[in-house]
Amino acid sequence: MIRQFPELPRVNIGFFPTPLHRLDRISEQTGYDVWIKRDDFTGRNLYGGNKVRKLEFLMGYAKANGYDYVITYGATQSNHAMQTITAARICGLEPIVYLRTVVEPDPNDLRANLLLDSIYGAEVHVLAGDADQKAESAKRIAELEAQGHKVYDVPVGGSNEVGVCGYVNGYLELLGQLEAADKRMDYLFTTTGSGGTLAGLVAGKKFADDDTKIIGVSVGLKDDAYEQRVADLANQALDHMGASDVRVSTEDFSVDNNYVGEGYEIPSPAGTAAIRRLARYEGLLVDPVYTGKAFSGLLDYLDSGRLPKGSTVVFLHTGGTTALFAEQAIVGPVMRD
Ligand SMILES: Cc1ncc(COP(=O)(O)O)c(C=O)c1O
Repeated sequence: MIRQFPELPRVNIGFFPTPLHRLDRISEQTGYDVWIKRDDFTGRNLYGGNKVRKLEFLMGYAKANGYDYVITYGATQSNHAMQTITAARICGLEPIVYLRTVVEPDPNDLRANLLLDSIYGAEVHVLAGDADQKAESAKRIAELEAQGHKVYDVPVGGSNEVGVCGYVNGYLELLGQLEAADKRMDYLFTTTGSGGTLAGLVAGKKFADDDTKIIGVSVGLKDDAYEQRVADLANQALDHMGASDVRVSTEDFSVDNNYVGEGYEIPSPAGTAAIRRLARYEGLLVDPVYTGKAFSGLLDYLDSGRLPKGSTVVFLHTGGTTALFAEQAIVGPVMRD
């Protein structure tokens, strides 16, 4: 019996439940029962992803509290920034984003999410990679507040106690689908960046009293305090849900840092190989920055037999495939063999 998710302010901007389906050829190749949860299909545009689940609650909170502007942060090709802009447009809030440069964009040839940000007509500030985004946005927030506006300041990745609730709910959705299919998952793999998705999934697992092993594959180098921050975020979300009796600790999940490659937004050879393998055997697209690297981690676990044979493994597809149309330095050598 799955415990009831509480009533929280929420807007309806995505398409749920997202599909869950089996990867037959990868299952056959590896000897595992491999499934994929398609959160790349969350909508509203073609380029859905994990942020839509968080944004349903973030925008719900913003509307319930009378905000008329939303500000957020990310890299220039941030999926979170693009999805926040999309959600703000749907909800009638004015979107502003502060983007830091990892790979230099060409202002005369905007690509991928930067192109979409511009089509959506957002106020976009592109800063140097080492610029202090918060110091810059603080000036803009002060200016807008002096004009009588109310600005919702959403952290990187939408990863606060409100946004994380989206993945508690997402986990319950996944459990419901598995139950309907008469399946149990042994392992759940997800990409982890700011940690909000992982925090929500783990909070969902504890909330539902489930024992799936959850593994977050990181896509940027993490410090030693990362796992504790994820656990804290999970507990903050549970508090926000009125479920303070449920607690998450770092024992409840693991983070694997072995598939980052040289760094964030730098294609890794294994990630590139995973993109090709999924495309060529499953017709499925993953991206070079997030899901390709995370799936390369999962493939390594499966190909090397690191998990008990025959286990049921679910990969959460968190979206991000616009990166296949980004600057060449981000895309990497996906076409060549
Ligand atoms: C496609 C994609 N997958 C995964 C993540 C990581 O999610 P989180 O920041 O919640 O850890 C992101 C974050 O930007 C993303 O864009």
